[in-house]
Amino acid sequence: MPSPVQNPLRPVWWDASIAPHGALCLIDQTLLPTETVVLTCRTLESVWRAIKTLQVRGAPAIGVAAAYGVIVGLDEASHDDRSWPDTLKKVCDHLATSRPTAVNLFWAIDRMRKSAAGLRGQSWMTARTALLQEAHAIRDEDAAMCRAIGQAGQHLVKSGTGVLTHCNAGALATSEYGTALAVMYTAHEAGRLFKVFVDETRPLLQGSRLTAWELQRAGIDATLICDNMAAVVMREGRVQLVITGADRIAANGDTANKIGTYGVAVLARAHGIPFYVAAPHTTFDLSIPDGKAIPIELRGADELRSVRGQSTAPAGIPVYNPAFDVTPAQYIAGLITDKGLITPVTPENIRRTIGPLAV
Ligand code: MRU
Repeated sequence: MPSPVQNPLRPVWWDASIAPHGALCLIDQTLLPTETVVLTCRTLESVWRAIKTLQVRGAPAIGVAAAYGVIVGLDEASHDDRSWPDTLKKVCDHLATSRPTAVNLFWAIDRMRKSAAGLRGQSWMTARTALLQEAHAIRDEDAAMCRAIGQAGQHLVKSGTGVLTHCNAGALATSEYGTALAVMYTAHEAGRLFKVFVDETRPLLQGSRLTAWELQRAGIDATLICDNMAAVVMREGRVQLVITGADRIAANGDTANKIGTYGVAVLARAHGIPFYVAAPHTTFDLSIPDGKAIPIELRGADELRSVRGQSTAPAGIPVYNPAFDVTPAQYIAGLITDKGLITPVTPENIRRTIGPLAV
């Protein structure tokens, strides 16, 4: 098995050498940064649970994991030449219940369904081979999109800039390289010197556990702050640019991302700092007019009542725990996509750049 911290850092891959059919492998992101453990998923249920519990997380990465999860589900069921389309439907339906907000999950599952529709009448083996190729293609295309996002946004990160980011939109959240962090990685590779302020990102600490780890590993100057320090670092003039990722972008540019992103965008506006969102075109959902229609995942109370298993609140205290919020388009200076920079953020500019999504 390859080292989980290979270069480039890849959080999700298919290991064909695992008997008897191959298996989906993930870096278990709930254990980072203290432990780097590879999770091997041989059952549909283990893939579903890995997505649900954030062992794999980040919009593009869960799409890639679900695409490979379809193969895991096919392998697990009877290898029957007639019934595989029914099995595939059940597998896809189940994976689609794992998390509701990131549209990349549904995009990847739909793409697997469409590919399967073209294989009806084929043997189980022929279909399985073609579908595994499709999952590899989803992974490879995502990697290429991340590189393109880096190119499209890197000019925004000038030497001497302070950049603030929220959550983790890095390699760990994609197939490799990231979205918001791709912009920073590309600027770094171009030799620019800048500083990144990393929001801790309560409740699950994707900023401190994952983004800080990734940036440190890449040799980028990164400073951790907790979420309630963002206003101060902005007022002290330490931040000139904010870049975050996205889980779903509506047709008008309203953007769902990790809880707390909306607050950061409002703070950036109050301090005259441009706020950008970086995402591949697979994160756009042009079927919904605005952010009101984006389903927001509500997660369990224990994520707020404790930190890493240690109780931090009275037992039984009621909790409200939305995992995402929606930043209205009016706060977003630009959308950095694999198809170029969209600015100003208007429905027309989005439609012109992203167009109807061909799956
Ligand atoms: O709950 P998570 O960790 O899956 O949330 C992830 C985010 O909000 C990311 O910012 C988003 O998915 C973009 S990843 C390139």
